Amino acid sequence: MRIGILGATGPAGKGLAARLASVGHEVLFGSREVEKAKAGVEELRSAGDRVSGLVPCDNAWACDAPVVILAVHADSALATARQHAARLSGTIVVSMANHLVRNGTEFNAVLPPHGSIAAELQALLWESRVCTAFHLVPAAEFMELDHDMESDVVVLGDDDEARSTLMEVTRSIPEAAPAGRWIPGERGRHGDLRRCAVDDQPAPQGPVEPAPHRRLRAGR
Ligand SMILES: NC(=O)c1ccc[n+]([C@@H]2O[C@H](COP(=O)([O-])OP(=O)(O)OC[C@H]3O[C@@H](n4cnc5c(N)ncnc54)[C@H](OP(=O)(O)O)[C@@H]3O)[C@@H](O)[C@H]2O)c1
Repeated sequence: MRIGILGATGPAGKGLAARLASVGHEVLFGSREVEKAKAGVEELRSAGDRVSGLVPCDNAWACDAPVVILAVHADSALATARQHAARLSGTIVVSMANHLVRNGTEFNAVLPPHGSIAAELQALLWESRVCTAFHLVPAAEFMELDHDMESDVVVLGDDDEARSTLMEVTRSIPEAAPAGRWIPGERGRHGDLRRCAVDDQPAPQGPVEPAPHRRLRAGR
């Protein structure tokens, strides 16, 4: 599949781009500056030919795909989406933003009025189909192409078809399992984006114990 990534030059976008290209996807590797995108792709290609499906481009060009991942700095996700809203009409837009601020020894989530960046994006991009995914996977795990990813990927979104498509993309990455359970306590924090992709079933009612054989690793 053709997949666009905006802000692909950061550790998360770059790792995800490499991982998706390594399993055969065509990845539009976006940046605000084409030269920066070219340098990022060059760096990845120097590590081997598994990433031949990477296409360096600017963020506008990277919107030319049925699935577009917003991997820009969390602070800039909304502004970037606003800038490209017209190009993203009808597109599956994937938020991977974790907007956290350090508060002493803790990291606290910065929650916008709709409750999450994904929900905020859906309000802003009303003609797009917004999902959230990959936000719990550390960048380093995407990048280590010699190792299978051992992460669950939680996929949330209100549009059934968009969620299924994204789960197919996730399944194309060996060992990156779309999450097989609801995360206790997450409900409601995603505003209207409340459906959890549990092998494409709606979120169960009430808390569910984590499955014993896998664990979620916290991303940034
Ligand atoms: N790092 C992780 O382990 C991790 C894990 C899971 C999720 N995430 C999430 O994934 C996203 C990317 O993380 P990251 O660590 O790769 O972020 P990052 O390095 O801080 O930023 C990624 C890219 O965003 C672009 N950018 C920076 N400022 C911008 C602005 N003002 N306007 C538009 N674009 C701007 C830059 O690309 P250009 O200069 O090339 O345009 C930059 O390379 C974040 O939302 C983060 O919360 C990160």
